[in-house]
Formats: sequence, C-alpha cells, structure tokens
Amino acid sequence: MIGQDLIGIQDLTREQIETILDTAQGMTEVAGREIKKVPTLRGRTIINLFFEDSTRTRSSFEIAGKRLSADVINFSPSSSSLNKSESILDTAKTLDAMDPDCVVVRHKVAGVPQRIAELLDAPIINAGDGAHEHPTQALLDMLTVYQEKGRLDGLTVAIVGDIAHSRVARSNIYGFSKMGAEVRVAGPPPMLPVQVEEFGVKAYSNLREALDGADVIMALRIQNERLKGAHFPSIREYSATFGLDRAKLRYAADDAIVMHPGPVNRGVELSHELTDHRPSVILDQVRNGVALRMALLYLITGRQPKGTAPE
Ligand code: CP
Repeated sequence: MIGQDLIGIQDLTREQIETILDTAQGMTEVAGREIKKVPTLRGRTIINLFFEDSTRTRSSFEIAGKRLSADVINFSPSSSSLNKSESILDTAKTLDAMDPDCVVVRHKVAGVPQRIAELLDAPIINAGDGAHEHPTQALLDMLTVYQEKGRLDGLTVAIVGDIAHSRVARSNIYGFSKMGAEVRVAGPPPMLPVQVEEFGVKAYSNLREALDGADVIMALRIQNERLKGAHFPSIREYSATFGLDRAKLRYAADDAIVMHPGPVNRGVELSHELTDHRPSVILDQVRNGVALRMALLYLITGRQPKGTAPE
C-alpha cells in the first residue's frame, strides 16, 4: 500500500483489509509499553487537514503518527488563509509543496478527499467525507469485532439508526460484507437509503427482526447536522423504537456486542447504562483507532522515502 490513497473501503481488497487488521493487531502492543514510541516513521511528515470537527479521528491520527515518531502537523482551518478566501484545493496544494509523506483529510462534503488526492503528490487518507465514506472507522470497527469474536466471516452485523446520512454505515456495509459477514440495516424508513438492498444488505423497519440472532449491533448517531426535515416524529419516539437498551438486547445473540462510532447522543441511540457498560465496546473502538491508524500510516508511508528505491 506504499504511496496509495485510501479514499474508501470499496477500493480495498479482502486481502488488503486482512493485512491492515493484522498490522494493527501488532501495533496494539506499543500502547502497553512504558515508552509508547517506536522509531518506524522518523523523518516522515504527516499533515492532519480537518475541515470538519473531530475528537476521535483527529486525535488518534495525531497520536498514531507521534507513536511512530513521525512529525505531525495539525492544520487549523480557523486560523488559516482560508479566512483570506484561499480555496480548499489551493490550501491543499500549498501544503503539498512542503513535501508531506501523507495528508489526512476530513470534509463535510462527499468527494473532497478524492478531489484533493487527484491533485496532490502525497498519499491521501480519507478521515470522513460527508455521507460518503469513513474508511478508517470501519477498519477499526472490524479490528474490534475480530478481537471480540475471533472472526468476521459468518457473523451477523445489525447497523441501527440513521443509515442514509452515515458515512460510517456505508464503510461498514462495504467492509463487513467484503469480509463475509451478513449485514442488516434498521431504522425509520426515511433514514434508510433508497434501494438500500443494492448495497447487498437486508433492510428492516422493525428493530426486533433486525436484531434477531445478531452477533454485533452497531448503533449510529442521529446526524442532526446532515438532516433536512423531519425523519421521525420526535426524539422520544425514535428512542422508544430504535434506541438500544439492555431489554432490547434479548432479541440478539446471547454474546452480542454493542458498538457506536461516537459521539453518542446518550439516551437517544443508546441508554446511559449501555453506553458505559458491557456488552458495549465503545472505548475499545476508540483505543483500537490509534493502533489501526498507526498500521495505515506505516503501510502507506513506512518503508522508504518517496522517490527512492527499496533497500
Ligand atoms: N467516529 C468519529 O469519526 O468521531 P469524531 O467525529 O470524533 O472523529
């Protein structure tokens, strides 16, 4: 994967996903060391170019780069020349002229990381674009499920909530399907994409049917910033129908786990109790985000400097 862009899970083969997950599993060990730093990416430069808010993704890319000894620059849109009308593409080209080894891009508009990748020499990692894809979230989710279940093939994964506006749902549908899992989606009909079955998933507007025997339940955030118009009568009704609590878990497999990409609307998608306690694995997902992003930075920028032959 050296020098490759990562725009979406759709672009990855099953073998590449397995390589990324294996490498990430190895990286988890670094977090347990007294000195959480290895020299692997010494001399590499990584730019975090986030045009949309983030806590988990931006922090974990920064920590991942630093644990690998790369120099990490966090570009801040609010104090940049974007405020002097410089365009996003000119901003990206300007930063590329400083010879970074990788640029991590998040933008609220789908397609921006792809457009930037077409213009820049440096490899681009998509850290989430509109409702298109969030590939590193899906990869860390797959890593978390693999650690819990020991496999992905043959599992039943139920994704619940605002599927239509969720880049996390889209990337996880592609990823888990590619790895041999059965993927179900459930939510109020206006929150299910038109012809969602074309993604190769089964769609449900009845939560009980969607959860029946599921091994993994993934709750999604209600994305108020992307919703236009009413998609359900009230938050209270959404929570009663599609919000997950311990009582509703009885429909799923006895050893089902509960996931959420965060941030959680507590008491809406997940009960307070389920947010904080097993079988939810939300903080394991966050923890795995660092190892997964270390693996990607290593695989994409790691072996030799750009333009030189492998040793
Ligand atoms: N899961 C996720 O993308 O969270 P952030 O928006 O906090 O990065």
